[in-house]
Amino acid sequence: MASIEFKQICKSYGNISVIKGIDLEIKDGELVVFVGPSGCGKSTLLRLLAGLEEEDSGSMYIGETLVNSIAPKDRNIAMIFQNYALYPHMTVAENIGFGLKLRGMNKKKRARAVDETASLLGLKHLLTKQPRQLSGGQRQRVAMGRAIIRNPEVFLMDEPLSNLDAKLRNQMRIEIRKLQRRLKTTTIFVTHDQIEAMTLADRIVVLNDGKVQQVGAPSKLYSSPVNKFVAGFLGSPSINFIHARRTGDNELTLPDGQCVLLPMDQAQILSDLREVEIGIRPEQINIVKKSDQTAMEKNTITWSSSVSLIESLGSEKLVYSFHGEHEVAIKTTNSNGALEGSNIQLSFSMNNAHLFALNDGRCLSPVAGNA
Ligand SMILES: Nc1ncnc2c1ncn2[C@@H]1O[C@H](COP(=O)(O)OP(=O)(O)OP(=O)(O)O)[C@@H](O)[C@H]1O
Ligand SMILES: [Mg+2]
Repeated sequence: MASIEFKQICKSYGNISVIKGIDLEIKDGELVVFVGPSGCGKSTLLRLLAGLEEEDSGSMYIGETLVNSIAPKDRNIAMIFQNYALYPHMTVAENIGFGLKLRGMNKKKRARAVDETASLLGLKHLLTKQPRQLSGGQRQRVAMGRAIIRNPEVFLMDEPLSNLDAKLRNQMRIEIRKLQRRLKTTTIFVTHDQIEAMTLADRIVVLNDGKVQQVGAPSKLYSSPVNKFVAGFLGSPSINFIHARRTGDNELTLPDGQCVLLPMDQAQILSDLREVEIGIRPEQINIVKKSDQTAMEKNTITWSSSVSLIESLGSEKLVYSFHGEHEVAIKTTNSNGALEGSNIQLSFSMNNAHLFALNDGRCLSPVAGNA
């Protein structure tokens, strides 16, 4: 086990800068998830730490050791990829134990290590099978076994679940989480699936365009994103954005002409900004009955609109409707009888909204009570 530190790591391919000065500390035993859109540099960062790519500048530490000039095989890292190539002609036991065999471990010790690893992963009954006789999830577990048996200081997992179907993916995600808690091996897990990131991570690192956008616990990033990118990346369906103009010290006007008074803390934070975007999560918008509107508070935005689509998730519904030209997603357990094509009243409180600067997307306000 070991901590990891990236200090001002930069990497370019030709004249294209891909990793742009990453600073990041990962604690001993932590499970950190790198998340971000395709091409943002997640795999490159893992490959740099593993020594499969060479950095242009900066330093990387595993524990107290500066690893920049240490050969990949001596960094005591195990990597698990999306395309885990098992040896097709070897049994599960041989596949798991192969690395130890290469290192010259004797047969008896190896058999004991394979046995322990297979128990940990629920593979004991499959030890004599060949990869082609296994399901996708079982194969993925064999690949993990191969990594675990080496007892590395660090696991690097690059989208290891992408080849699995949705149900198996959920199952494996839970297994990885439990296994990591047991082994307490420092782990970096890369995904572009934000649900995977939210459910697995002790802390999430959101990356975009070769730079760290925000680092923190999943709930913290969800409730207090630092900018529009992080707010938009985490959450499904995505947070809704509504453009607004400042028309008074504590007043915003929406594109439909509606004015809303801001809570005091939000008004103060706006300083002299004239244009903002309101960010509101789908679960913070309510479908209300017309008769309820008399009880509305002054910091509430209400509008009526027709329903364009309803998706049922079982206990919850996703209702899509328009605010002006923008489609808005609402997640609710009480759709108040809304039907596709019907007219509904929607409302949300500015106390639950985020405000973002229109020019650079930075978040201006922590959500009250959630910061
Ligand atoms: N060997 C290479 N030569 C040139 N460019 C590269 C090389 N490897 C990666 N890149 C570029 O670096 C950028 C980051 O790639 P990287 O593979 O790290 O992205 P990623 O975040 O892992 O994306 P994905 O989610 O699609 O796997 C991309 O623009 C990619 O085209
Ligand atoms: Mg990648």
